[in-house]
Amino acid sequence: MDKPKVVLGVSGGIAAYKACELLRRLTESGHDVRVVPTGAALHFVGAATWSALSGNPVSTEVWSDVHEVPHVRIGQRADLVVVAPATADMLAKAAHGIADDLLTNTLLTARCPVVFAPAMHTEMWEHPATQENVATLRRRGAVVIEPAVGRLTGADTGKGRLPDPDEIFEICRRVLARGSAAGPDLAGRHVVVSAGGTREPLDPVRYLGNRSSGKQGYALARTAAARGARVTLIEANTGMPDPAGVDVVHVGTAVQLREAVLKAAADADVVVMAAAVADFRPASYAEGKIKKKDGQEPAPIALVRNPDILAEISAERARPGQVVVGFAAETDDVLANGRDKLRRKGCDLLVVNEVGERKTFGSEENEAVVLAADGTETPVPYGPKEALAETVWDLVVPRLGGTDTGDSDTSG
Ligand code: CTP
Repeated sequence: MDKPKVVLGVSGGIAAYKACELLRRLTESGHDVRVVPTGAALHFVGAATWSALSGNPVSTEVWSDVHEVPHVRIGQRADLVVVAPATADMLAKAAHGIADDLLTNTLLTARCPVVFAPAMHTEMWEHPATQENVATLRRRGAVVIEPAVGRLTGADTGKGRLPDPDEIFEICRRVLARGSAAGPDLAGRHVVVSAGGTREPLDPVRYLGNRSSGKQGYALARTAAARGARVTLIEANTGMPDPAGVDVVHVGTAVQLREAVLKAAADADVVVMAAAVADFRPASYAEGKIKKKDGQEPAPIALVRNPDILAEISAERARPGQVVVGFAAETDDVLANGRDKLRRKGCDLLVVNEVGERKTFGSEENEAVVLAADGTETPVPYGPKEALAETVWDLVVPRLGGTDTGDSDTSG
C-alpha cells in the first residue's frame, strides 16, 4: 500500500524549528512527507534540513521543476496538508485565496483535509482580522488548531504558542484516519465539553470529591478538534495537561463549573456534560482546618444541593437548535434508569455507562449505550474512549441545525 502523502507547509515564524520534530514524527510513522516552506520560513530553517529530514525535494516557488506542474500536482496528490507554524499572514492568504508561492498554490489545489497550526504573538492572534480569517477557514472545513498559551518569542507570554509537535501529530493522525470522505463535519461549530470531577471544599485542606478521571471528556475534546470544531474544554481537577488545539477553562467546584458552562454555552452549538458534578456540597465552609477534639464525636457534615447544570442548560437552550449531551453512570437497571434520566434531564443524547468490573473510573476503555430523545438507542462496544467519543459526534452531527451565526468570535 502507498504511504499516505502529507504536505507539511511551513510559514515564516520562529516556531518553524518545531516543525522539524513534526516532520520526523510523520516520516517515522510511515508518511511520505513533502515539505513546502515559504520563502520567509527559510530564514528560520534552511531547505537542506527539510530535504534531508523528508527525503524529498524542497522548493518555495512555482518556478522549479515546471514540467511537473508542482503548483497543482502537490496539492492534488496530498492526503493531508498541515501548515505548522501558520503565521497571521499565511492565514490571511489562505482565507482570501491568494496564491503567490508554492504553498499558497498548494492550499488552493488541495481537496484533502487541511490542518493549520497557528503560531504568533497574542495581539496578532486576537486581532479581529486574524479571527475573521480563522472563522472563514473553519467555515470552509479547515481544521484550525487553537494556539497554546505560554512563552512566546522574547520575554512575552500569552496565547499564540505553537502546540507541542506531538499533539499536532496526533491531530494529523486523527484527521487522516477519518479520511477525506468523512470530512471535518464539526467545522464552524463551537463545542463545549466539561470533564473531570468537581471538588466541594469542607475546609482549606479537605473536600468531597469523586473518582472521575476526565479521560472521556478529553477524548471528546480532542476528537471534536480533529473534526474541525472550535472547542472549549471546561476541566475540573483532572491533573492532566491541556490538550492541544482547544481552549481550556480550569474550575474546581460545581458552582464554578456551572458559571463556566453557562458562559461558554452562550454561543455553543453543542454542550457535552461529561464531568462528574457533585450533587451536594457542604452547607458551610470552615475558614480554618476542622480539628478533632478529644472525647468528642465528630460533628455531622450538613450538605446542600448543587445546581443541576445539565437539566438547566437543557431546559433553557442558550441558542435555538443547540444540542445537549449528558452522561450517566449506572450500576443496576442500566437502560431503564438511563431512559428515565434522559427524560428528567431533558437533554438530546444521554451516554449511559455501566460502572462495575472492567468499567472503572480512570480506565482507557469504555462501553456504553447512547440514548436519544427520539427513542433511538446506539450500543457502543467495549473499546477506547476515543471510539465512544467519535460515536457521540456521529450522533450529534445530524442533530445540528445550520451554521447561521458562523464562528466569528474574537475572544481568542
Ligand atoms: N450533572 C450536572 N449537574 C449536577 C449533577 C450532574 O450537570 N449537579 C450532569 C453530569 O455532568 C452528567 C449527568 O448530569 O452529564 C449525570 O446526571 P446525575 O443525575 O448526576 O447522574 P448520576 O451521577 O448517575 O446520579 P443519580 O443516579 O444519583 O441521579
